[in-house]
Order: sequence, then C-alpha cells, then structure tokens
Amino acid sequence: MKKTEWFKDWFDTKYYHILYQDRNYDEAQMFMQHLISFLKLEKNSKILDLPCGRGRHSVFLSQLGYQVVGADLSENNITFAKQFESENLQFKVHDMRNPFQTKFDAIFNLFTSFGYFNDDETNIQVLQNLKDGLKENGVLVIDFMNVNFVKKSIVSEEIITKNDIDFHISREVDGNAIVKNIRFFADGREHFYTENIKFLPLETLKKYFRAVGLKLKHTFGSYLLDDFNIDNSSRLILILE
Ligand SMILES: C[S@@+](CC[C@H](N)C(=O)[O-])C[C@H]1O[C@@H](n2cnc3c(N)ncnc32)[C@H](O)[C@@H]1O
Repeated sequence: MKKTEWFKDWFDTKYYHILYQDRNYDEAQMFMQHLISFLKLEKNSKILDLPCGRGRHSVFLSQLGYQVVGADLSENNITFAKQFESENLQFKVHDMRNPFQTKFDAIFNLFTSFGYFNDDETNIQVLQNLKDGLKENGVLVIDFMNVNFVKKSIVSEEIITKNDIDFHISREVDGNAIVKNIRFFADGREHFYTENIKFLPLETLKKYFRAVGLKLKHTFGSYLLDDFNIDNSSRLILILE
C-alpha cells in the first residue's frame, strides 16, 4: 500500500462503514439546514458535494429541492449511493485531484475531506479544482477539523468494538499530520489501515486560499455555526468565494 494513497484503500472498505456506523445523520442534516439558511441558497441551485461518501448530505440536500451531484473517489461508496438517485440527485466517481467539468452555485467539502495529501501542491490543486468548479458568485464550504483542538484533546489509544470487530485505534499528532492507525482482525485475517490528515491550522489554510485566489468570507467553529475559537472549537468551517 502506497502511504500517500491511504485514502483510496480505507474509505473503500466495508470496515470503514462498520467502524463509523454511528455517524450522526441528524447532526449532518441539522448542519445542512443551518448552512443553507446562512448561505440563502435559492431552491434550484446546483450543489456539488465532494467528496460525498455514501451520500448522506447529498440525499438530504436533494430532498430540500436542490440540484445535487455527489462525487467520491470510492467506487463502493458511489455504487451504494446510486440507489438514492433521482431527478435532482446524481452520483459520480470522481477524484478531487482532477477538475470537475460542470460549474456549481455551491460546492461542499464536508466532514474532514481535505488535507489528505502530504504535499502542499496537491492540496492546493484540490482547492484550485474546487474554485474552478464554481460559477461566478459561487460559494465553497470546507468543513475541516480544528487541528489545534484535536492536538489538545487527542485520545492516543482506544479499542472500539463494532459488529464483533475490535478496532484497535492509535492516534498521534505532530506538526505535519494527524495520524490514526486502525488495526483489527476480521474475515480470517489481520487488517491495518491509516488515516493521515495534514496538520493544517487556519493560518496555513489561509496561505493555500491566497495561492488560488479564494476569498475567506466567514469562519465558524461548530455545526451550529458558532464563532470559531482556536482553543475550544472542534470544527473549522470555512465559507469561501
Ligand atoms: C471522511 S469521508 C466524508 C464523506 C462525506 N463528506 C460524509 O460526510 O459522509 C471522506 C471521503 O473522501 C473520499 N475521498 C478520499 N480521497 C478522495 C479523492 N482523492 N477524491 C475524491 N474523494 C476522495 C473517500 O472515499 C470518503 O468517502
């Protein structure tokens, strides 16, 4: 497994969805409602949810009446999400390192779906692609973690049991990355996966935004859109144009 391509392997497995099966759908929908009312997005707006995972935000946004495309690198995620397709909701396999061909009124990059690449160039290329996918006056939303808060509150070792699988999780943070190692025994063998998110404080992200000409308009610290506080906020939610 190539270290830099950890995101191709782990998210595409059934085990990822077993481990995170309690992901909070109500919270995701509540966040979308707050965001939509803050952005005042018109009903027929085109929204790209990239990456969309199995489509939890995309499905809800389509139910609110938006024209939604959900895109993700994981073929398994997209195959799963396609069961929800409708007149105003489509899913596609897409690598965010490549430009998207259509333009959107809004692009949502949600739930720590940024900073997957070790090198600044690739992360900046992703931002360039997101920017290029926006119509004039389009808005980009990035829902990232507050790395300063994560560093303070990290649980270095734990075992989480789901569907009779003991997931042994270890976490570490250094100045370059937030790394989660996941080890478990299932289906007759041992598995080992890694999540490796670049350590990106707001100041570094601002440099990225400047590099591609994105303007940071608002910064929030929670799914309720509370003000961002570098010490206490768990999320770093960025509204860009
Ligand atoms: C943490 S999940 C979040 C998914 C979704 N936004 C949600 O909240 O459920 C990250 C997603 O990024 C996708 N992903 C990883 N690398 C990608 C890439 N290079 N291009 C597009 N999607 C990617 C994974 O397959 C995974 O579904």
